[in-house]
Amino acid sequence: MKRIEHIGIAVKDLKSGNDIYTSLLGKAPYKMEEVESEGVLTSFFQVGESKIELLQATKEDSAIAKYIDKKGEGIHHIAFEVDDIYAAMEDMKAKGFRVLNEQPKKGADNKLVCFIHPKSANGVLVELCQSIK
Ligand code: CO
Repeated sequence: MKRIEHIGIAVKDLKSGNDIYTSLLGKAPYKMEEVESEGVLTSFFQVGESKIELLQATKEDSAIAKYIDKKGEGIHHIAFEVDDIYAAMEDMKAKGFRVLNEQPKKGADNKLVCFIHPKSANGVLVELCQSIK
């Protein structure tokens, strides 16, 4: 793992989340992006070498909607950057971590992503992400 690429925060309303984090961080999001396949609308703030990703559900059955129903708003996942997501996934599986998708998925912000089940990582949903060159 190279660095914490971003921390994902589940929000009920992206517009008000953007206002709050613009105020908190002292800067506006550098992009907003919908990931239709995941049923989310996202925004990204650059904070030094890492980012904050806000996620709002766009469908009732999306993972973010379910998360907010169960736990309310808050930190949803931590994403670590890797050079080679395929190798990283194999490494995780070999070490006994439960990956949630067998193939990398296209995520927001031009990334290939894979999630590791929170039960494998002390209750934290871990995302591996690799930039698409
Ligand atoms: Co993420």
